[in-house]
Amino acid sequence: MPDQLPVLAPSILAADYTRLQQQIQACTDGGASWLHCDIMDGHFVPNISFGPMIVEAAARCAPDALIDVHLMIEKPGDYIEQFVRAGASLISFHIETEPHAHRVIQAIRASGIQAGIAINPATSLTLLEDVLPEVDMVVIMSVNPGFGGQKFIESSLGKIRRLAEIRDRMDTDFLIQVDGGVGPGNIGKIAAAGADILVAGNSVFSADDITGRVRELARLAQAGELKFT
Ligand code: DX5
Ligand code: ZN
Repeated sequence: MPDQLPVLAPSILAADYTRLQQQIQACTDGGASWLHCDIMDGHFVPNISFGPMIVEAAARCAPDALIDVHLMIEKPGDYIEQFVRAGASLISFHIETEPHAHRVIQAIRASGIQAGIAINPATSLTLLEDVLPEVDMVVIMSVNPGFGGQKFIESSLGKIRRLAEIRDRMDTDFLIQVDGGVGPGNIGKIAAAGADILVAGNSVFSADDITGRVRELARLAQAGELKFT
């Protein structure tokens, strides 16, 4: 568990790759302690992004950051070792991609890092019930995965609240991450609904002052949590 929640996790999917080092530095200068890396295979999602080489470069740019790898790929179990070697601290994969999710979670943990499970907007939380005691994080997708810059799906707020209630009842301590369409206008209420880790791509990297935007989003998330809960 990070010391202070909620935490902002900039998604480098939206970065300018000709200036990746400076842009990551701008995030860490603003206090970002997590970096979210979106891996897309053109099969599970209709877009291709990047693989372990960029994750490794990002990890080298931010040696103190938690490298949060979000796999949107088929057969996630086949790629764990490569991403661990690249510097992943946490790997999440989609429940929709894996009939043997329990086995993949165990494999991620056996490699010495944390495991997360991600869930699409159209997938019910009930599908996660039996793996919740095994995971370090649940990623609630608040857009359909595949692209940055999409609009936050409002019904995700209810899903976040329901998951937070389930967590209370189960007395477990997985983190709740929310991914997609998070920005200054909604980050407070998303944190208040129960999000611990807030992924933000476009709203961070489209800013002229990335450092300032990272600070602003983190402040709004913390203020929102206090105001609405
Ligand atoms: C979507 C990715 C997200 C994406 C978020 O498939 O999983 O992490 O980078 O981007 P924004 O914040 O622009 O919606
Ligand atoms: Zn993501």
